[in-house]
Formats: sequence, C-alpha cells, structure tokens
Amino acid sequence: MEEELISIKNSAIPLILDAKEEKELEELKLQFLGRNGKLTLALKKITKVPPEKRKEFGMLANEVKEALEEAILNQAKTLKGSVKEKIREKIDVTNPGIKPPLGHLHLVTQAIDEITDIFEKIGFERVRYPEVEWDWYSFEALNFPKNHPARDDWETFFIKEEVHPKYGPMILTPHTSSGQIREMQRRKPPIRMLNIAKTYRRQSDISHVPMFHQFEGLVIDKDIAITHLKGTLDYFVKSFFGENRKSRIRPYHFQFTEPSFEVDVSCGVCNGKGCKVCKSGWLELGGAGMVHPNVLKAGGIDPQEYTGFAFGFGPERCMMMKEGLELDDLRLIYSNKLEFLEQF
Ligand code: PHE
Repeated sequence: MEEELISIKNSAIPLILDAKEEKELEELKLQFLGRNGKLTLALKKITKVPPEKRKEFGMLANEVKEALEEAILNQAKTLKGSVKEKIREKIDVTNPGIKPPLGHLHLVTQAIDEITDIFEKIGFERVRYPEVEWDWYSFEALNFPKNHPARDDWETFFIKEEVHPKYGPMILTPHTSSGQIREMQRRKPPIRMLNIAKTYRRQSDISHVPMFHQFEGLVIDKDIAITHLKGTLDYFVKSFFGENRKSRIRPYHFQFTEPSFEVDVSCGVCNGKGCKVCKSGWLELGGAGMVHPNVLKAGGIDPQEYTGFAFGFGPERCMMMKEGLELDDLRLIYSNKLEFLEQF
C-alpha cells in the first residue's frame, strides 16, 4: 500500500511540471487531490492498514499530499510568471529595436548640396526659378534673335499653350541661363547668384537624359573682369575636385556671353599631362563667359555701368568626374536601381 502512495507521487509530479495552463493544473489537482482523487482514495485504505503501521502510513500519505500541493502551487506561479514575462517583453522599452534599413540622399542631391556650400562660402546666393518658362527668358532676352539657328543646340520641349505676344511660346527650361534675366529683374547689382535647377532637352540615349540639372553662376557688379571669372573657377575646381586640380578656359561661342569660353578641369589621374582617361590632360566642365551687353540691357541693367560673368555646369557631370565614374548608360543615375544608388 505504501508503494501505491509512492507511485501516485511519481506519476503526479512530472504531469504537474508539464502543465502548460492553469486549467490543466486544476484538472490534475482534482485528479489526485479531489474528493474522488487518486490520493484521496488511497488514503481511505488506511483502515486496512494494521494499527502498528498506521502512523507510518499516515506520515507518508501526508508527505505525498504536501509534495503534490507544493508542486501544483509552484507550477501555478511559474505559469503566471511566464505570462507576465511575455507581457513585459512586449513593452520593454530597453530592448534593442529592429533597425529599419537606412536610406541616404541621392548622389545628385549630394553633389548639389556640396556645390551650394562651396559657392555660399564666397557669397553666392542660391536661387531657383520656374522650370516651365517663356521662350523670352530662355532665348530672346539672352540675345538669340527669333529663328536663330543656335537655338537648335538647346533641343527644347514646347508646351501646348497660347503663344504670348511678348514672351513667345511656353517651354521647359533647356538651361538655367533663363535665371540670369529673372535674377536681374528681381534685384539690383551687386548680384552673386547660384541658380541650381532641373533642365530639360529632347534627348534620351546612353549619354543623355531628358531631365538633368545645371548650376548657373552669375556675378554682376562694377568692374567685373575675366580675372574674377577665372579666380572663381579655380576656387570651385580646387574646392570640389581637390587642391591640386586646375581650371582652364578655351574660346567658344554662346549668344549670351562675349567673350565666351569652355571651361576644363585638369585630369586627376595624369595632372594635365595627358593619359588614357582624358587623352588631352583636361576634362570638359561646361560653358562660361562675360555677360553680353544685350543681356544686361534685357535685364534692365546699364552695360556702361556694370559688367558681369556667368557660367553653367552640370552637377551630374561634375559628380561623375569627381568619382571617376564611367557609366555605360547615363540613364542609370535616374533609374532608381538600389544596387547602383546604395554605392554612394
Ligand atoms: N547655358 C549654357 C549651356 O547650357 C552654359 C552657359 C552658362 C554658358 C552661362 C555661358 C554662360 O550650355
């Protein structure tokens, strides 16, 4: 009979410790300690135990009962605790969080920000003018006579809109030079403008995209000369590309500048000597020149009193030249391909 008590204990304890829910524990309690429970029934057999052994039997029975009660109580506590634990886990603000993937600014935006900082340091003010613009601001006021063939170089998008009697057709800005006239109309000299904006041309192939950016510098004041332009270009080239880089100006033609130049930067690989990358030792940056008197007049500024210089470059091109990036297809820059963009 004592064996029966021991086997009840041995079978009950593992079951109790295995219980996953309070309900299961309640059922086990009934099954062993309830009125018709196994232990209760076993205890009733005490009457059949010889009197001299009853005390021992009673003590053992008590021990088993206490062991079961204690196990049930402990397991109940454990179950409650683990529920609390789970709740605490959910709201534990000290737990390390799940890091969302971190993005960064687009490589062209990074270049624009850097260019802005460089020019702001020497007093240029960043501006932006309409990208849906009149022909007059983009061509006419910039000294392009009507139907002048040079207009074809700026493969322009035309907007289906009524032609304005003074300003002509409505277009998408094919270059940021329209901002020159807008700036002259907005304020009197001295002017130090940096116009960074989107520009649009009817072109799309591996080396052209229909939308790209330009940054246009314009300085107008008394006695502004080519040396000021050259100094500014040198400053920009050294700040953006590196201390050991140089700028060079070559004669060129634009309707809105006189004289006009193309600006080069010395190759970073061969330092101007000529190599496989650059061939001539120089890499082309963009256009520049002294503001044409007719342009000053169109902007309401007296060319007898004021002179100025202007330049217009592409941040995309500058960025690629700086990174030494030779893209097989320029359209990649605006393709939203993460494998490409994440590298910058
Ligand atoms: N607007 C010219 C272009 O798009 C660049 C330029 C700007 C040239 C200012 C001279 C002066 O090519």
